[in-house]
Amino acid sequence: MLDRPTNRPDLPEEIARRRTFAIISHPDAGKTTLTEKFLLYGGAIQMAGQVRAKGEARRTRSDFMQMEKDRGISVSASAMSFDYSGYRYNLVDTPGHSDFSEDTYRTLTAVDAAVMVIDGAKGVESQTQKLFEVCRLRDLPILTFCNKMDRESRDVFEIIDEIQENLAIDVTPASWPIGMGREFIGCYDLLRDRLELMDRADRNKVAASIEISGLDDPKLEQHVPANLLEKFREELEMARELLPPMDPQALRDGTLTPIWFGSAINSFGVKELMEGIAGFGPEPQIQNAEPRKIAPEEPKVTGFVFKVQANMDPKHRDRVAFVRMCSGHFKRGMKLTHVRSKKPMAVSNPVLFLASDRELAEEAWAGDIIGIPNHGQLRIGDALTEGETLRFTGIPSFAPELLQTVRAGDPMKAKHLEKALMQFAEEGAAKVFKPAIGSGFIVGVVGALQFEVLASRIELEYGLPVRFEPSQFTSARWVTGPDKEMDRFINVNKGHIAHDNDGAVVFLTRLQWDIDRVVRDYPELTLSATKELM
Ligand code: G4P
Repeated sequence: MLDRPTNRPDLPEEIARRRTFAIISHPDAGKTTLTEKFLLYGGAIQMAGQVRAKGEARRTRSDFMQMEKDRGISVSASAMSFDYSGYRYNLVDTPGHSDFSEDTYRTLTAVDAAVMVIDGAKGVESQTQKLFEVCRLRDLPILTFCNKMDRESRDVFEIIDEIQENLAIDVTPASWPIGMGREFIGCYDLLRDRLELMDRADRNKVAASIEISGLDDPKLEQHVPANLLEKFREELEMARELLPPMDPQALRDGTLTPIWFGSAINSFGVKELMEGIAGFGPEPQIQNAEPRKIAPEEPKVTGFVFKVQANMDPKHRDRVAFVRMCSGHFKRGMKLTHVRSKKPMAVSNPVLFLASDRELAEEAWAGDIIGIPNHGQLRIGDALTEGETLRFTGIPSFAPELLQTVRAGDPMKAKHLEKALMQFAEEGAAKVFKPAIGSGFIVGVVGALQFEVLASRIELEYGLPVRFEPSQFTSARWVTGPDKEMDRFINVNKGHIAHDNDGAVVFLTRLQWDIDRVVRDYPELTLSATKELM
């Protein structure tokens, strides 16, 4: 394990050893495979020896998904924790589908770092770029894994240049690949001057690690075929000359990303990446909140809900709120204050997602993600504290950009539809508006694919076929103001008024002109495109 270069040497050990991160990537780059290998190293799953042939590999993976399904845990949506080499890793998964949802943004508010996985043959792809931009908004530290080096991939300098240019971030090589495709034999670990060789025969084993003392070490000649060695020496010299060295502070600031090369499917480079996450972290960070920031080492427990997931177990219709712990030492059974309702809440059955199973969380520290089953009290953005009134900031809510009307295939099932829609609205999966006049609901989303996802979830989870149809409205604005002015406004604009799932008043329109008119005619009202989550 690398020494821990930290800017917080004073943190208690339990907090200092926690690493909470997400993986960002374009579909197919290898996120699932990498996640599985993390879990394998973390001892959370045992697949060793099973994943050999391609066909078998596929079966194993779908078995794994099936296993998750059987247990009611969705790999694509939850947080998983595992231990490796003295560190506790909390991996928060970002949604897998390609449409961009609010979920992803919120997930990234719960982590301290992100691992960016790119395919060595494809480089920076569109979804990676989008997700990267979100990370940048939050100055999240990013560690990069260039995957599939066992296949023909692009020239290493070209890959690094592309990252530097497209993402405007400095790149420092943490490892350097030797050969590629069929000739790929392994990597040179620049952080520790070690040769890491890949074992093609056993995908779950990291082969030899050989200490090297510089590029002239004769041991290189013993292990690296002559045709690769010369090119490798040249490249490494050039890399050291042209590329910046590792700088932990620049990584923490989000201005430099170290890159590891490897092959997730061959378990190659994964261990080094995990050690990189451990070594460079960062540890749980200070969280922005009003009226004051929260430091992880504060003795009192605080946390916020960044995700709500309904129907994780279709048999039980439970709802789990995912809470990022921000400070203190949480113990099961603790009474916390639910700040929004100002009510105490006994947290008696929190769950920790230890990948292999859903376990009761006996305790949790800053940085951990716990799931709290509840009946709808906990909403995205809610804070839990030991009494203090706090609001964690930076959890975004998005203006719905696309509005559609939704109807149940069977008109007799309108009540069921309402229930399903309210559930999704609470999850933050969509904005749901009930017009003051007429029947039906209007659903607002950020990306078009969300309509499809919603339709299939409503059918799957509620057995209710639904139809989405174009709505006469294209914009929604939340309206607030003094009661008298609100009443006057609502009476005059009935055909444009709707209520969201909290009963808040929303003005629906298709013209910017309408919005400008309301602003002019009702100076005491405030119109906003988003709703504060608290
Ligand atoms: P994703 O979650 O990012 O979408 O990617 P996933 O891990 O599902 O991987 C996408 C495909 O890339 C899979 O192939 C997977 O096996 C393959 N893959 C992942 N890592 C590596 C690697 O290091 N080298 C090579 N050569 N391939 C890799 P698939 O054909 O979709 O499935 P399967 O038949 O391999 O199971």
